[in-house]
Amino acid sequence: MEKLIGNKNIAVFISGRGTNLKALINFSKKTKRFNITSVVSDNKDAKGLTFVKKNKIKYLLVNYKNKSCSEKKIYNFIKKEKVSLVALAGFMRILSKKLIKKIKIPIVNIHPSLLPKYKGLNTHQRAIDNKEKYSGCTVHYVNERLDSGKVIMQKRVKILLSDNKKSLEKKILKEEHIIYPRVIDGLLN
Ligand code: GRF
Repeated sequence: MEKLIGNKNIAVFISGRGTNLKALINFSKKTKRFNITSVVSDNKDAKGLTFVKKNKIKYLLVNYKNKSCSEKKIYNFIKKEKVSLVALAGFMRILSKKLIKKIKIPIVNIHPSLLPKYKGLNTHQRAIDNKEKYSGCTVHYVNERLDSGKVIMQKRVKILLSDNKKSLEKKILKEEHIIYPRVIDGLLN
């Protein structure tokens, strides 16, 4: 894994429930291997913001009514907070090529499938419908195309005949919470 030279401050971008964010916060508190100093949310009602407020992490809300204006705000926030890495965790927006280039630091994402299979949404149902034996999760670098950047790590999960979308999601999410902090730790330390 490629190592980054810089501080150990990261920004996490969320849109909703925020269980990956919570796993990252818990890992960082327990191990002190990196600090989550900043969070961006495009949803003021994101459940993940409760962990942010509880842990007194600085956050920026963007409404995306105007993408380029929201991205400018994101860029200024990231720059001001001097973070070394951006981790997308359920962030439901595609970052523009322009922003990715401008940010200059690595941007990573976690996706609930074994990429390049099942980019986009509804990954678990699609894997079940296609009678896949395995699915899983992938941590990858972010580029301007949806779920298409270079893969950093994957964890495979067996799909049982008894599995449905919910049970598969639960099993995969558990693995997401394990691999995402580890990958970020590996990149920063
Ligand atoms: C996760 O399944 C993640 O892989 C995907 O979006 C979901 C976010 O869940 N990108 P949470 O908000 O972290 O609970």
